[in-house]
Amino acid sequence: MLIIKTIAELKTYLKNEQPSLKIGLVPTMGAFHQGHTSLIKRAVQECDRVVVSIFVNPLQFSPTEDLAQYPRQLATDSDLCAELGVAIIFAPNLEEIGITGDASTQGQLTTITPPATMTSKLCGKYRPGHFTGVATIVTKLLNIVQPNRAYFGQKDAQQLAIIRRLVTDLNLPVEIIGCPIIREASGLALSSRNQYLSSTEKSQAAIIYQSLKSAAQEFFRGETEADNLITIVKDQLAITNEVKLQYVELVDPLTLKPLAQVETIGLLAIAAHVGNTRLIDNMILRQPIIAIDGPAGAGKSTVTRRVAEQLGLLYLDTGAMYRAVTWLVMDAGIAVDDEDAIASLVKDVIIDLIPTDSPEIPLGVQINGQEVTKVIRTPEVTANVSAVAAQAAVREQLVKAQQLCGAKGGVIAEGRDIGTNVYPDADLKIFLTASVEERARRRSIDLKNQGQKNIDLPQLQQEIQARDDKDSSRAIAPLRKADDAVEVITDGLTIEEVVAKIVNLYQVSYQ
Ligand code: PAJ
Repeated sequence: MLIIKTIAELKTYLKNEQPSLKIGLVPTMGAFHQGHTSLIKRAVQECDRVVVSIFVNPLQFSPTEDLAQYPRQLATDSDLCAELGVAIIFAPNLEEIGITGDASTQGQLTTITPPATMTSKLCGKYRPGHFTGVATIVTKLLNIVQPNRAYFGQKDAQQLAIIRRLVTDLNLPVEIIGCPIIREASGLALSSRNQYLSSTEKSQAAIIYQSLKSAAQEFFRGETEADNLITIVKDQLAITNEVKLQYVELVDPLTLKPLAQVETIGLLAIAAHVGNTRLIDNMILRQPIIAIDGPAGAGKSTVTRRVAEQLGLLYLDTGAMYRAVTWLVMDAGIAVDDEDAIASLVKDVIIDLIPTDSPEIPLGVQINGQEVTKVIRTPEVTANVSAVAAQAAVREQLVKAQQLCGAKGGVIAEGRDIGTNVYPDADLKIFLTASVEERARRRSIDLKNQGQKNIDLPQLQQEIQARDDKDSSRAIAPLRKADDAVEVITDGLTIEEVVAKIVNLYQVSYQ
């Protein structure tokens, strides 16, 4: 790992890298905790080279804030980065980056001013100039590093929304990745500023998260009115004198516009002082996302469809999406192994899943506006779907489409990599599995029902084991249990029992 302090050196390094390599940037102000390292780990996983910038940016501190006191620990931070597989730490000094002082000096240089609608509320109201300082340094870093992807934490939800908007408004060629909030066991969101808290203050501060959680619980019980959700937070914080609320607001997480109620998704954001330390936290309120993964033959699709019905969620039939693309490939007369032609065919594909009233076909499927619900179930499509679904371009495009479908929540999906790859932030992850023996037994019953005689059970077991091994070891979207998934073993359980178990797991976590 290199620690680079000048822009010229960084440019030389990046110029010598192959242009096809994916560059990831994680902008930070250092003093790493697990919030930072979660961003870095994700970037290392998803990119070929990761640049972590460490720069305590004076331009985002007002003259009365904690700039001088802000923790600086480059040596331990760089050890951590080296361990995590970071390629470069970019740690410029003030002169190098061209920033001369705190927020009061913004008038002395060209700055990036985000729209007032996004900066006049939440933290912006109490930290004038802060987001101009953030937007300016982030734009500088994006211009210097020119990454393919840049990673930011949901912990700073207003910052994330403003950066997304900045990238859109200025047509910056970078993908912004938002990462979930990492918390202590007490629920307190990790922050470099937690270092300022005494241990008593630290335990008092946990009530900030508790109050958000109480509101979220009411939301999952059906409360959607902003006033009521905000009152829940205020009432809970009023119990203690040590935590002084600065604001609590319910806004749209992308535009930051105040919401009178949560229709699909809302951001409940809070700032409070504990002693002299100002802490922020937030929670996204949206209908849940449930991810169900597991090996073939564990009963995923039936179970998922039934859970969707019971909880009133959209069943995102990812299998139908891959079938629809396979149909499109065949309809266009493209050979299923012609990866280049398929890649350009799927580039702009639009797939719509439309819930129907029919219990036999609960989901209609359209691809590029064409109705294909029935034709995607033909044996010809079945025969070709795995060859098409295994292609990286198809996978990438459909994962994007699936994420778009789930952006507002209210979705349940099943597959092999839903909890690990498609919805890593899912509210509930289930790994649905059954022993090889049990799956072979179920398959033999199916075959018997289809009129097949002389079924060789050991042979079936071998085939299932071989399929499991193949699914778990393939390069694209391998089958893997997410670290935070709940394993449900279905041996000896009926479908109804499995469905009841999942519905119960959902209810326990949210009600
Ligand atoms: P800093 O506070 O160092 O945070 C760096 C990144 O870590 C930010 O994207 C922040 O949202 C993320 N982060 C902090 N605590 C987190 C937590 N508990 N869970 C998940 N992510 C967390 O944010 C900044 O620096 C600066 O404003 C910066 C963007 C670098 C511009 O100067």
